[in-house]
Amino acid sequence: MNETYYSLKKVAAMFGGQHLKEDITRLEQSGEIGAQVKFRSGALYRKGFSSNDISKIGEKLGFFKTFNSPTSLCVFTTKGGVLKSTLALNLARTAALHGLKTCVVGLDIQGDVTTALGFDDGLEDSADLNYILEKLNRTKGLSDIFNNSIRLNEAIVPTDLENLFLIPETPELVALNDSLSNINRREFWLKEKVIDPLKQHFDLVIMDCSPNWNKLTTNALVACDALISPLECKINNFRNFKVFSKFLEEFKQEMRLDFESIFVPTRYSLNRKLSQDILSWYRENVDGCIDGAIREGVSGEEATALNKSFIEHCPGKPASNEIIEVLSEVHRRIEESISRRTPEAASWQYSRNQANPQESSWR
Ligand SMILES: Nc1ncnc2c1ncn2[C@@H]1O[C@H](COP(=O)(O)OP(=O)(O)OP(=O)(O)O)[C@@H](O)[C@H]1O
Ligand SMILES: [Mg+2]
Repeated sequence: MNETYYSLKKVAAMFGGQHLKEDITRLEQSGEIGAQVKFRSGALYRKGFSSNDISKIGEKLGFFKTFNSPTSLCVFTTKGGVLKSTLALNLARTAALHGLKTCVVGLDIQGDVTTALGFDDGLEDSADLNYILEKLNRTKGLSDIFNNSIRLNEAIVPTDLENLFLIPETPELVALNDSLSNINRREFWLKEKVIDPLKQHFDLVIMDCSPNWNKLTTNALVACDALISPLECKINNFRNFKVFSKFLEEFKQEMRLDFESIFVPTRYSLNRKLSQDILSWYRENVDGCIDGAIREGVSGEEATALNKSFIEHCPGKPASNEIIEVLSEVHRRIEESISRRTPEAASWQYSRNQANPQESSWR
């Protein structure tokens, strides 16, 4: 895979603005990060930082710091196409670019986040069906863990970013969803067997859900510290939200869960009054709704199609600046909820197992 390079101006924009340029240059001069390298861009040679340097810069100067304790997030709402997977992808890539060791757990049979993290790259172009079948057969996932045919670390695959890992979605998720209905403590399997063990090796675990209430989703809700739930700024989401929030509250009470619910308005349109009115209504009436929002637009769509986060794809553009606001706010809410739930966490820094997650010992 070709290495991607980012100019000083782009890196500053990725992490919050041009005021960071001087600090980045200071890090470069002191040798804390690698020096910019020359790379070819079309007919020209330019200077830039590689993605490994980027995560060191993000860790020191960025807006998404490591939390006081390992954290699990569930991205879910009962509406399709409202940017759940896009949010999961942006959270995951942005966190990894800030040095957080991050693992995405795909829970949607559609496999969007698995595709977005480049897992299927090259398969379509391969002329060799046997190679494709062999690769697909080799792919292990949550149902193999459930059946005890592999250990958890064997299901984790690397991505193009050194801090970002994935448990890919496989077609057997359908069977797993069924199997989960037939076991004792059926809502707790994912938490006990997957997410809690992952939290010993990762700073952040992100679960991308399908738009349905099913066993995989309820397992994800039980396993999360915070729910990140998109609120589409369109009229047909309005009714859906009322039903969803009622279901959610009932489920939380029944299961005695105290995860934080963070609602993120998505797909608002700058030139539609109705969309602006819905956005204002959400902000005023939905408990846990953030001030930021993700606009409907080509830059965001392109970024997701290219499997990039907004800050990588269009640093400095409105879509990127808005997601910085959104993710900063989400980050602050998560941190507040961690210290509310476990006040002692605010004063200590946990130490994560530093070994490569695929190789380290898991029990
Ligand atoms: N800012 C944006 N504006 C408009 N479209 C976008 C934007 N960002 C991403 N998209 C596109 O919107 C589509 C739906 O997004 P996404 O897959 O994230 O939704 P989802 O809620 O996960 O859907 P599903 O319920 O099917 O899992 C994708 O094709 C994505 O590329
Ligand atoms: Mg999705």
